[in-house]
Amino acid sequence: MPTGHTLAIHTRTQDEEDLPHATKRTMADHLRKYETIFTLTPQRMRMITEAFKEALELGLQKPGQIVPMIPTFVFGWPTGQEKGEYLALDLGGTNLRVCLVSVQGDGKFEIAQSKYRLTEEQKQEDGQKLFDFCAECLKTFIDQNLTESDSPLHLKPGEKLPLGFTFSYPCAQDRIDHGVLIRWTKGFGAPNMEGHDVAEIFRKSLEKYDVPVVLSALINDTTGTLIASHYVNPKTKIAVIFGTGCNAAYMEHVSNIEKIKSLNIDSSTDMAINCEWGAFDSFEHEHLPRTKYDITVDEDSNKPKEQAFEKLISGRYLGEILRLVLCELIDEAVLFLGQNTYKIEVPYAFDTAFLSLMESDPTDELLMIIGIFSHFFALETTLAERQFFRALAKLIGRRAARLSACGIAAIVDKMGYLETEEPCLVGADGSLYNKYPGFADRIHEGLVDIFGEKGRRIVTHHAEDGSGVGSAIIAAMTKARRDAGLYPDL
Ligand code: BGC
Repeated sequence: MPTGHTLAIHTRTQDEEDLPHATKRTMADHLRKYETIFTLTPQRMRMITEAFKEALELGLQKPGQIVPMIPTFVFGWPTGQEKGEYLALDLGGTNLRVCLVSVQGDGKFEIAQSKYRLTEEQKQEDGQKLFDFCAECLKTFIDQNLTESDSPLHLKPGEKLPLGFTFSYPCAQDRIDHGVLIRWTKGFGAPNMEGHDVAEIFRKSLEKYDVPVVLSALINDTTGTLIASHYVNPKTKIAVIFGTGCNAAYMEHVSNIEKIKSLNIDSSTDMAINCEWGAFDSFEHEHLPRTKYDITVDEDSNKPKEQAFEKLISGRYLGEILRLVLCELIDEAVLFLGQNTYKIEVPYAFDTAFLSLMESDPTDELLMIIGIFSHFFALETTLAERQFFRALAKLIGRRAARLSACGIAAIVDKMGYLETEEPCLVGADGSLYNKYPGFADRIHEGLVDIFGEKGRRIVTHHAEDGSGVGSAIIAAMTKARRDAGLYPDL
């Protein structure tokens, strides 16, 4: 071309041999290199587990530690006999959900819900505005479902329903209906909220829109998942979420939570802990095996150095890690020579859902992968390249699952859950856990690598909807506790 640029002309019907693609051999060589850096040996996993356990213990001793181990003021397990009608509002990483939950006892419940998608602007803008939107959605839901005289639950004038607010971000709590946002995670960023009591900010929005509810509990999604899973299956001991973000919760003995000693809570009581384990190894980066792609993800994120564990595991980042590897191979002139690569060079253009799709492509020709690359990125691929992409997705997905196993193992080991013959059930939720092929199996394999055969006694299962049902059960437990005069100010 006159400008000195080269122009590659290709069409969909053009035979792939016409483009200068990498050979099968080259792709295999590259794969070996990535295998080395993304693979975690059992020994390394045991070391990570040990360091993780120490971080969990430290978090229980003192406030403000890297893994914050947040006391939730959810006292002990549900009885299974909780009953009543509760509203639940769920503000997660992607959606906003309003639920009406009828908790019926004996592990039964019914739920009616509406979902709203959050826009990117809403995630970054003024926090009060975001909460105003939540209050408006709640108001609309109530108007549509609870004010008609023929609705199953008819709200009388002046009556207020208890609300459980599931806010899936780290909040330091001094009592159950309060929480100071420590930091946004999962790419959220409304600047004026960190360091403030989100329950208070939300109450202002509720007042502004005159929403007939009382905010009775502010909960984390993992705490909700823990309680909902236990309500349905009392063998559940831990809850984990592997979605846009990742986290875990479990039930701790108050006597082990040194940092709340001054509250004089009866030491034989138990309290759920929201670990916020996504923060493990933040700042110091001493324990986790970070590749240069992970370091780029971190440095280019809106919270560099923070959420170190989450950045290797959660759905928000896995697609980006794979994309960075592809971009490196584009720069090294290995991939997509002569093709226009601008679409794949956009940060976060490669969704984590593509990794799931690539891994589950059932065809020999890997037609799904052809589709992803041609449809979303206007790129032609050869079979050898597609096999490489799939293998790379597997390495990144497998590493995420094996690191997740280290986190679970740390809690199990700390609590001595393998010291009895009983199975240790782990309620798990989130898009990666639910949709990524083989994610659960890889966690289980990882647990056997860490603990040997007895690791088989730790079994993850798809959890009940923690943010809806769990939140409602916690609202019910809180009401019962306060009515009984048990720590009414907490
Ligand atoms: C948040 C946690 C949440 C997890 C799963 C993380 O980014 O910090 O509070 O439980 O995502 O949604």
